[in-house]
Amino acid sequence: CKVRLYDFRVVLTNTTKLCSTKSIVTINGKFPGPTIYAREGDNVNINLTNHVQYNVTIHWHGVRQLRTGWADGPAYITQCPIQPGQSYLYNFTLTGQRGTLLWHAHISWLRATIHGAIVIFPKKGVPYPFPKPDKEKIIILGEWWKTDVEVMVNQTTQSGLPPNISDAHVVNGQTGAVPGCPSPGFTLHVESGKTYLLRIINAALNDELFFKIAGHNITVVEVDAAYTKAFSTDTLFIGPGQTTNALLTADKSVGKYLIAVSPFMDTVVAVDNVTAIAFLRYKGTAVFSPPVLTTTPAINATPVTSAFMDGLRSLNSRKYPASVPLTVEHSLYFTIGVGIDPCATCVNGRKAVGVINNISFIMPTTALLQAHYYGISGVFTDDFPALPPNYFNYTGNNTAFNLQTTNGTRAYRLSFNSTVQLVLQGTTMIAPESHPFHLHGFNFFVVGKGFGNFDPDNDPKKFNLADPVERNTISVPTAGWAAIRFRADNPGVWFLHCHLEVHTTWGLKMVFVVDNGEGPNESILPPPSDLPSC
Ligand code: C2O
Repeated sequence: CKVRLYDFRVVLTNTTKLCSTKSIVTINGKFPGPTIYAREGDNVNINLTNHVQYNVTIHWHGVRQLRTGWADGPAYITQCPIQPGQSYLYNFTLTGQRGTLLWHAHISWLRATIHGAIVIFPKKGVPYPFPKPDKEKIIILGEWWKTDVEVMVNQTTQSGLPPNISDAHVVNGQTGAVPGCPSPGFTLHVESGKTYLLRIINAALNDELFFKIAGHNITVVEVDAAYTKAFSTDTLFIGPGQTTNALLTADKSVGKYLIAVSPFMDTVVAVDNVTAIAFLRYKGTAVFSPPVLTTTPAINATPVTSAFMDGLRSLNSRKYPASVPLTVEHSLYFTIGVGIDPCATCVNGRKAVGVINNISFIMPTTALLQAHYYGISGVFTDDFPALPPNYFNYTGNNTAFNLQTTNGTRAYRLSFNSTVQLVLQGTTMIAPESHPFHLHGFNFFVVGKGFGNFDPDNDPKKFNLADPVERNTISVPTAGWAAIRFRADNPGVWFLHCHLEVHTTWGLKMVFVVDNGEGPNESILPPPSDLPSC
């Protein structure tokens, strides 16, 4: 095993897109940021120095951080922010994972421009469990605003109005052309006959996305750094925070093919249908050849998302078994959604709130992991309810429930190594919406999902306990539910939240506290000496 050293300098960088220039916060002046390359088992050391006037933290999304929660990154959850002029060494080991993940800022909306890829190769000499690709390519999908994103967010939290939707989607930092502003868009260069491993990352803030390459199917082999059974599809569905490795064989006629990326939004609150344009280009394509075109599914094509998710199964081979917990010690049922609360200072006298079991999470002013580790009282309570406060027809017409939200910094406590089943129940409190839910510190197995209200008597009978897909972020179906299982084998404080940044801002989040175990390697390690203070 090696130590992989990286220097991350947070700096402002002038960037021009859509024919307008603004200053953005970047790592080392790059958008997207630098790629971290490592092998399974390696130790990663990222020295972050903050040269801007914003507080910063970085999250290594999907990295398990076994016993190293101090390096996980969400501001005020596992660490206090790294203030202007300060530095912090993120030090962690990549244990039992290989594939593609992403890193991103985890404070305010800085992840709009502070994000990049994490590529974890298998241990030396260990092959992929699929045909070796000739080449590998990273594809990072994102969103771009012409305005300053931090200014916009501060305005919307004060006004209670929803934030603007992005002005464009980007592929590896490039927009396509828009009327009045030419731009070539990103080009993926391929050679006839070769096979490519595409490492696709959704780093967008607020959009689940469809991704499609004209004329070509791709074969998914890995999601969220966990191997899957090979699954061939013409359309990829990928939520923010999710990653997908897929094989692409360049076996069509030499030419240029459109790569289309467009949002999925079943409830079209604000119309956001900007398709990003990129191209697949075979070597030897004539300079002016017109591209082969394609269209992505309609913005509200829920059945396409459902079919895609149904196609994903753990590889579950002898070498890579799916270790699904077969018994459940904590059976949790969380309703998730967005409601409306009165707000005297807001423009319309109200504001949106994100709620889990009707609780909107209030960010603490000191990091929860420190409060937990040092036993500082009064920062959080550990009484997060296992069930919603009352039964209502979650996915029916239930507008009245909008006004029953409570606030709090409440955690759910898990003993070390206990097994958890969590049913995430989408609601229609304002409107049905699909929520990409992310759990820090764990991979989980998606044992079931469906539309409507979860039926505790019958749905578990249909659970897939044999080869459910293993992930760290799950799209909870629109007006439906998803059931996940995991083992609480990582002591610390772990964030669970919707990965649509707008919903996180509104409070659609909570934390799990996992206690230390009794054994020698079952406690969280002591905090590093340079851990920032609040
Ligand atoms: Cu990728 Cu808590 O997020």
